[in-house]
Amino acid sequence: MKYNKDIERVIAQIAEVAGYLWQRGWAERNGGNISYNITEWADRRLLKLKPIAPETPLERPVEHLSGNLFVVTGTGRRMRYVASAPMENASLIRISDGGSSYAIVAEKAIAPTSELPSHLLMHNYLRGRGIPNRVVVHTHPTELIAMSHNPEFLPKDVLGRLLWSMIPETRAFCPKGVGIAPYTLPGSLALADATVGLLDDYQVVIWEKHGALAVGEDIIEAFDMIDTLSKSAQIYLAARSMGFTPTGMTDTQMNELKEAFDL
Ligand code: 13P
Ligand code: ZN
Repeated sequence: MKYNKDIERVIAQIAEVAGYLWQRGWAERNGGNISYNITEWADRRLLKLKPIAPETPLERPVEHLSGNLFVVTGTGRRMRYVASAPMENASLIRISDGGSSYAIVAEKAIAPTSELPSHLLMHNYLRGRGIPNRVVVHTHPTELIAMSHNPEFLPKDVLGRLLWSMIPETRAFCPKGVGIAPYTLPGSLALADATVGLLDDYQVVIWEKHGALAVGEDIIEAFDMIDTLSKSAQIYLAARSMGFTPTGMTDTQMNELKEAFDL
């Protein structure tokens, strides 16, 4: 299908990021999924496309997404193929007026990710709060997941502070740190609710023993936050495998950064 240049750019960026997720080793098999709200760039023709699969009711309505159009990766689809053929592995879905269901409107009847409850409820919550969020990226970053297996890291902001302290970039570019949602069945509404509950405080959420999610206006920024946090996790791991626990930057050093970069 032919799209305007803004939507072409979004699709190209989804492909670009899907490639990074695969190259990073964060996307085994069909691991991870992406959704991108493209409503603001859609013309009448796109907004009025006829459904190509039956309308699917949503367990929880998303009233702030009424009539919105999303590119969503398909369930069971591999990121390495999203990278090479994005619209063969993702579809356009439109939320109904009122937000109680969605329909696939293009290009192929590819069922959206099993994590759609989390994606849509996150978009809905942020838009409802007036935040111009467009993107949710979910992936399986190895070192961050490994760290979420340690109960000592799970209390509020323990892991976030540790990751901040590994390298100045993380403090600067992930200024909110990371929220942690306790292990919950993948694809469940309970997992979605736990995640949404963290969005007042965080832009990145780690699903214990499962993966990470980032939200943002821009998919490159969302990817960069997970990448930066992952870098910190790798530094921690490298130090531990050399036989020592890294000291980390001190609170004073981190506060100095906070002031210098106005975080
Ligand atoms: P999907 O293939 O349904 O997107 O699921 C992948 C995944 O990472 C589930 O958490
Ligand atoms: Zn997952």
